[in-house]
Amino acid sequence: MEYRTSHFVFLFVIIFCCSGFSKFSYAQLLDPRQSVPGWTENCISCICEASSGCNETVGCIEGNYCGMFLIGEEYWRDADSPVLDGDDPSRPRAFERCALDPFCTSKAVNRYIQKFAQDCNRDRFVNCDDHVRLHYLGRTQCSIRINHLPYYQTFQNCMRQLTIESRG
Ligand SMILES: *[C@@H]1O[C@H](CO)[C@@H](O)[C@H](O)[C@H]1NC(C)=O
Repeated sequence: MEYRTSHFVFLFVIIFCCSGFSKFSYAQLLDPRQSVPGWTENCISCICEASSGCNETVGCIEGNYCGMFLIGEEYWRDADSPVLDGDDPSRPRAFERCALDPFCTSKAVNRYIQKFAQDCNRDRFVNCDDHVRLHYLGRTQCSIRINHLPYYQTFQNCMRQLTIESRG
């Protein structure tokens, strides 16, 4: 009986993880070594949802915003230019190769937020509401209002949804 149960669980894991539903899980997006207030799995996941629907195959759009977080080359450079294993930041298109890879592009986002976290919404706290603005607007102008944009509304709905789920 016990054997059968574990076998079933094993099968379930295989089917779930490798069915092409997704190659990454939300948990893998977060670099937990980075201790910035409000920088949580829910936060980075909802930034991913707001950016592209967390679509790994979104490619590059609108003048070179690439990958599921739709980052630009300047953002990537500001995030210390992470690269795929064996790649070099100075090689042509290293930015694109990183941005299009879920793990590499998450590295860039984690680094960017860690480096430039600030009170974008000027409520005197630093939390996820600041990070979602910083990601979209960049480090030099993250106080511009974005509350009316679909990006921000998707983010809010996502956070609400994940909060409900985590409460059970
Ligand atoms: C992801 O983006 C690609 C390219 O725009 C699109 O063809 C595909 O349907 C999207 N996938 C999902 C799940 O939305």
